[in-house]
Parts: sequence; C-alpha cells; structure tokens
Amino acid sequence: MKKITIAVDGYSSCGKSTMAKDLAREIGYVYIDTGAMYRTVTLYAIQNGLITSDGINTTLLKQKMGDINITFTLDPETGKPLACLNGVCVEKEIRGMEVAAHVSPIATLDFVREAMVEQQRQMGKEKGVILDGRDIGTVVFPDAELKIFVTASAEIRAQRRYDELKAKGMDCDLNEILQNVQERDRIDTTRAISPLRQAEDAIVLDNSHMTIEEQKAWLLNQFKRVTDGN
Ligand code: DC
Repeated sequence: MKKITIAVDGYSSCGKSTMAKDLAREIGYVYIDTGAMYRTVTLYAIQNGLITSDGINTTLLKQKMGDINITFTLDPETGKPLACLNGVCVEKEIRGMEVAAHVSPIATLDFVREAMVEQQRQMGKEKGVILDGRDIGTVVFPDAELKIFVTASAEIRAQRRYDELKAKGMDCDLNEILQNVQERDRIDTTRAISPLRQAEDAIVLDNSHMTIEEQKAWLLNQFKRVTDGN
C-alpha cells in the first residue's frame, strides 16, 4: 500500500497526540509530536536564562538555535516517543506548567518556526508519517493526503489536561489551566506567522463528547477511506 502523510492540527489539549499516536501504532507509521519540539526549545530557553521578567532574549536564542538538538526515542517500556534535548530525555519537564506558560510566545518567533518546520519536513520526507501540531496541513505538509482539524470546548480541554497532570502526580489548579488553554488559543490563532487555522481540505473532528475509542475508530476509518484502492 502506498504510504501517505497525515496531518493532525487543532487547538491545544484536544487529545491530538493521543489519537495520532494510537493511529501510528495501529498502521505502522512514524508519529511526530511537533508541539513537543516547540516545548523543547522553550525548555532550553528557560534552562539557559533566556526568558526573564523582561521577556524572551530573542537575539541570544536565535544565536543558540544551532545548539538545540531535538530527537525522539521510544520508551522501552511503553513504546511511546520521548522528546530529548541534546541527548537528554526531557519528556517530563516539557509537559509541566512552566513550559506551558512560555511555549506560545516562543512558537511565534519566525526563526524558531523556520528551524522546526525544516526539521519536520526532513523527518517526514519519506511519507508514512503522522504529525500533530498547528500548521502541519497549512504550512509544513500542505500536500498531505489526509488532514484532520481537531477541536473541543476550552472547558473540556482544561479538565482533560488537569486530569492528565494530576494522574502524573503534578500539583495543578483547574482555573489556572483553563486560563492557560484560553491564552494559548488566543496566541495560536492570532499570531502573524503560521496561525492555527483549518486547511480548506481538512476534515473537522469535534471530540468534545467522544470517547478515545470512538475517536480512534473514526480516525482509522478516515485513513482507510483515503488509502483504499491505493
Ligand atoms: O500541542 P502542544 O500543546 O504540545 O503545543 C505546544 C505549543 O506549541 C502551542 O502553544 C502551539 C505551539 N505549536 C505550534 O505553534 N506549531 C506546531 N506545529 C505545534 C505546536
């Protein structure tokens, strides 16, 4: 069967990565979490004192972009991809509230986006990939054969992220998370470069009231619809 490129875009905390990961495992595709890449750049900036109360030191971050090597390895126990920064696993750190609070402004920077998009195109050039993010179907792979645009209400998304963090034993506040979700939506959709928007040929999935199993089946059907006969 001919391999295709699958783009999954949408709002933060919509469950994009869960569905993309599941589908990738099911169909034997490579999964690329592009949000994790922007989060890793943000972590680097935090760790190196490039984000202060005055804002982001963009001059220095731009100079340091070449020092930021992002890779993914598979967790030997769960088989899930783990983000690494310069060879060190940073999966836990990039999911915390500190990174979440700073990642949207970092993702608006043109030089950061250029570097990430270039890496994502390299990672996906052989097809057989499923990428989740904000600009995959519009900018990174506008020719992707299957494009999904995922959405759900902000309240439901905040609750999901809260449950996720609690399950990991992290201390968090639902109201703070909701504000963070809404603020990230605002920045993601209004930024000048590659704002989050639905590609014209994307299929919308509102999963506010869907279970993970239902959405898994829905996505697999979409994949079969596009690849049947190829
Ligand atoms: O999907 P996520 O929550 O892990 O994404 C983290 C941030 O990165 C979010 O604020 C949007 C940004 N992002 C982006 O601008 N482009 C992408 N392709 C993926 C994520």
